[in-house]
Amino acid sequence: MAIRFTVNGKAQSVDVNPDMPLLWVIRDTLNMTGTKFGCGVALCGACTVHINGAAIRSCITPISSVEGKHVTTIEGISPDHSHPIQRAWLEVDVPQCGYCQSGQIMSAVALLNKTPNPTDAQIEGAMAGNICRCGTYQQIKEAIHKAAGMHGAAKQNAELDQIPQDALAGGAE
Ligand code: FES
Ligand code: FES
Repeated sequence: MAIRFTVNGKAQSVDVNPDMPLLWVIRDTLNMTGTKFGCGVALCGACTVHINGAAIRSCITPISSVEGKHVTTIEGISPDHSHPIQRAWLEVDVPQCGYCQSGQIMSAVALLNKTPNPTDAQIEGAMAGNICRCGTYQQIKEAIHKAAGMHGAAKQNAELDQIPQDALAGGAE
């Protein structure tokens, strides 16, 4: 029986065993290989994607449970690497081997969507399930703070755009 859902805004229909993990479907059926296999038992976070905006472990998520839902993978974060998290990741030069990084980024994006200006403790809590064998934890924390700042600046600019120009020029008298 076909299972229907969207991936990065695009409708998908797959005819696979309903128990097949979402990670297998993403990588092997849809040929999107940005999401990684690490442990297969929800312990490392390499396979993190979003379902309806929440970060989940796709290695233990049966495809049948995704019917009618919206999946976002690392390929769907932005078309041109312009998302604040992606820009901050590049500026801080976070990755080493890179294997864990798509999962790290998906968890970080979910965190910032919920908590735009997280504290160190909130970052540590949200990222605790994402393991990095290269030990990039400090850089990840720095990049999340940087992205939060960019997010805030973008919001401020958007608000400034709403202010009537004569007010910015000294006020309408
Ligand atoms: S591969 Fe899914 S948590 Fe490790
Ligand atoms: S960058 Fe190598 S495992 Fe995280």
